[in-house]
Amino acid sequence: MKLSSDKVTLAERHNKIVYDCGDTVVKVFNRAKPKADILNEALNLARAEQAGIRVPELVEVGKVGVSWAIATEKVNGKTLRQLLAEDPSQEDAILDRLITLELDVHAHSNRLLNRQKDKLTRMINGLGDTIDEAQRYELLQALDGMPNHTKLCHGDFVPSNIIVPDDNEAAPVIVDWAHATQGNGAADCAITYLHLVLGGEQDFADKYLRRYCERQGCTVAYVQSWMPIIAAAELERGRVHERDFLLSWIDVVDWS
Ligand SMILES: Nc1ncnc2c1ncn2[C@@H]1O[C@H](COP(=O)(O)OP(=O)(O)OP(=O)(O)O)[C@@H](O)[C@H]1O
Ligand SMILES: [Mg+2]
Repeated sequence: MKLSSDKVTLAERHNKIVYDCGDTVVKVFNRAKPKADILNEALNLARAEQAGIRVPELVEVGKVGVSWAIATEKVNGKTLRQLLAEDPSQEDAILDRLITLELDVHAHSNRLLNRQKDKLTRMINGLGDTIDEAQRYELLQALDGMPNHTKLCHGDFVPSNIIVPDDNEAAPVIVDWAHATQGNGAADCAITYLHLVLGGEQDFADKYLRRYCERQGCTVAYVQSWMPIIAAAELERGRVHERDFLLSWIDVVDWS
């Protein structure tokens, strides 16, 4: 894969750079990222599309020099994150839009996706000595007791992953399917909540959680019962800066 010389950097993370290449957006991963994860991200995107979700068209999976990369067709528009930054007075409307889209994703399914419980179990077991054996056992027991659902779950349903096309008639496009699974919508909601809090948006996160539960018809306590499990999984991703914060969430047995 060749990148255009006038590419613009959209986002730079510890393990990848996302470039705007004009007609395409290319995510270039560093060599530490296992190639199986990159192929899985591209496969998840295809699985979500197969389920009936509007995702960017997958253009290519290949190498840029020695690095693996995923190219998708560029969606001309703004993310819900950008729209919120431009006009904070629209917060309630944007939140409603985010939740409407999330519930719509959860109303879809693709039985070929990885199972959320399997993924979370693997992540909790991958924590090694970070938590003690008794705590790991408790988390795995709690996870095992959660209802088994097969909803399409995005795994990182935050405002920066929703693009509203400039053509206002067109439906929003959902990007970044690296963490998609089939499973429980409340767990997906708990992930969004945690990511918003980690991003420093406690008030927005609290409002999101209340409204999601109202609209989904579940209790806030039910979503909160997922929090220790989700915090443990997040810790396994190696979020060193948030270590103490995540450990405190894992410790909370009773959130209500
Ligand atoms: N196909 C696309 N068309 C237009 N913009 C895109 C597309 N894919 C990604 N983007 C933009 O690039 C940003 C980063 O891409 P992506 O979310 O896939 O990677 P990321 O590393 O997870 O980023 P983040 O941490 O912000 O979620 C998105 O928030 C979006 O603004
Ligand atoms: Mg993203």
